Amino acid sequence: MTSSPQTSLEVSALGEYLDGALLRIEDALSGYLPEAEAGPGAGCPARLALAMRYAVLGGGKRLRPVLCLMAAEACGGAAEAAMPAACALEMVHSYSLIHDDLPAMDDDDLRRGRPTCHRAFDEATAILAGDGLLTLAFEVVAREVRPHSAALRCVQILAEAAGPSGMVAGQMADLQAEGRPELQSHGRLEASVVETSATLAALESIHRRKTGALLRAPLRMGAVIAAAPEPRIEALDRYGKAVGLAFQIVDDLLDVQGDETKLGKRVGKDSELGKWTYPRFLGVDGSRRRARQLADEAVTAIEPFGTRGHRLRDLALALLERDR
Ligand code: IPE
Ligand code: IPE
Ligand code: MG
Ligand code: MG
Ligand code: MG
Repeated sequence: MTSSPQTSLEVSALGEYLDGALLRIEDALSGYLPEAEAGPGAGCPARLALAMRYAVLGGGKRLRPVLCLMAAEACGGAAEAAMPAACALEMVHSYSLIHDDLPAMDDDDLRRGRPTCHRAFDEATAILAGDGLLTLAFEVVAREVRPHSAALRCVQILAEAAGPSGMVAGQMADLQAEGRPELQSHGRLEASVVETSATLAALESIHRRKTGALLRAPLRMGAVIAAAPEPRIEALDRYGKAVGLAFQIVDDLLDVQGDETKLGKRVGKDSELGKWTYPRFLGVDGSRRRARQLADEAVTAIEPFGTRGHRLRDLALALLERDR
């Protein structure tokens, strides 16, 4: 992330926090992922383990886990207690990226500065690595989050965010909005996105589900693990909702204006594929203004936390300036 002059002090303090958190998250993730050395017949096949480790480790900003740790801390809880949930979020996110990059979806060859999982391995292995990560995420939450009541709530939050009314719904709508003919037919009772006129509300609905949902979940999960009272959970949820949408708006902007080397993924793909994006609907300046407005909304939402919310505040503002 780069910093604006006004926020450079806060951002550097944030940068230090993020560097430390990143190492701890990487370590914990590595511990949860299957090893390739287990040997024949012993659990996870080596190729599958390697593909899962390849897709998850050694890259990524780890924003979803960081949000989970920060939420727990803002509520007076320990970051370590939130680490299993944080890792589960990153597993679900990494799976969504593997599948997002597949030829049948966005057909990308570069992710996190390296060949995409299906390029480094093969399509079948990439699909299964995604399946493995999604399932492992729930295993980790169920086994590691304590107390059991918090684990149960986290399972529900994560499932709703990732599932067929959350991220998966957004991905379906995102692809249908491209106008691919083979994706336009639909069940008798189901309204398809093609029936929706190309309005800003429809675009917002795609972005809130495909990306927003999985960025909103960490705030709730972190707060639940820290046993926060309901009004605090709701305040963090409002923050997550605003940051989640702002994040995808900036992602759209980076596809137009970003640098492939810094981003570690291709640019210019959205217009090539005919995606619905904020720059397409609002232009670059309008998109920037909307992202700024959402970051301000996020900052306002966490005012009740006082100084305990400072990291979340700094992060919401820094995400506007990110270049990767
Ligand atoms: C990329 O997410 C895909 C979107 C949901 C916009 P990130 O920008 O968080 O990707 P990594 O995890 O840092 O690689
Ligand atoms: C991805 O959105 C959303 C999910 C992976 C769920 P994009 O398709 O815009 O993400 P990038 O730009 O490929 O990272
Ligand atoms: Mg996509
Ligand atoms: Mg994509
Ligand atoms: Mg994108």
